[in-house]
Amino acid sequence: MVPIESRDMDLRRHLRESGIEPKLRGLICEIAEATKYVINAVRTGDLGMAGTSNLYGEEQLALDVLSDRIISDRLENSGLVINISSEEKDIIVNVDSDNNGLFSVAFDPLDGSSLVDVNLAVGSIFSIYKGENILQGGRKQAAALFVVYGPRTTLIYSAKKGVHEFALNHLGDFTLMREKIQMKDTGKIYSPGGLRSKYLPGHKKFIDFLEKRGSKLRYSGGLVPDINQILLKGEGIFMYPALQGAPHGKLRLLFELYPMAFIVEQAGGSASTGKTGILDVKIDNLDQRAPVYIGCKNDVEKVKDFLKE
Ligand code: F6P
Repeated sequence: MVPIESRDMDLRRHLRESGIEPKLRGLICEIAEATKYVINAVRTGDLGMAGTSNLYGEEQLALDVLSDRIISDRLENSGLVINISSEEKDIIVNVDSDNNGLFSVAFDPLDGSSLVDVNLAVGSIFSIYKGENILQGGRKQAAALFVVYGPRTTLIYSAKKGVHEFALNHLGDFTLMREKIQMKDTGKIYSPGGLRSKYLPGHKKFIDFLEKRGSKLRYSGGLVPDINQILLKGEGIFMYPALQGAPHGKLRLLFELYPMAFIVEQAGGSASTGKTGILDVKIDNLDQRAPVYIGCKNDVEKVKDFLKE
């Protein structure tokens, strides 16, 4: 945690003092502004299905559709963006009406949205690329960030100069909480996605190994809070493995894995499919998925031995 007196460092100032280029700074701030409206929708919005009406006959939007609209509109009006692609729409949309845009953004507007019904934490995830190509691959990200809508609203960003956490304060500003977050090399938390009955043998052995080692299970079913926990505690491993009948696991490279892998690697952790670094997996479609092991680097290395057997 940064000392109390540093908490008046807001996101904009932090980006500037970290030497992030002005346009990228502007884009990260635009995204941060958009998420303030998303949190409001999450806190108070109808939990209706898209296409249905409420008591007053007004159209209700599912929260994920509404979040997508809030973020897309903001990016479109920023004047900084060429192409966007949202997990919600699954297409690439050109929003650069005046040909001034510099970046393209892939985002998951409300990851884990089904958890809102039961009042668990959810989040938004963003990947920023320079230029018009949204399928450049994870290593080419200029920055990535996610926002956690939990008991508090927090924002984690990395623009290749460390990983930093901000919290939304009572004035509606994101102020610095933790700077230059670093992960340990091994950890005692594990966050295992996927049905146990569908585990492949190497993965099952790795889970047995973690349990024997005394690792604690921490899994909420929301990628954003689950990774956030590992990142901020500085220890642990999140996994969504290849499963029987699902060799590519569940999670999507573009919207979920690339940005999380970028942030965790910037914090000294690691992310792998079990064979290849997540950021090195080549992408050719928006829906591409991959198995994932992400967290402390020694734990991610260790799983590779189990999967080889
Ligand atoms: O991709 C959506 C998502 O809800 C992630 O946030 C989460 O990590 C995963 O799916 C949970 O999947 P499961 O319900 O299979 O554990």
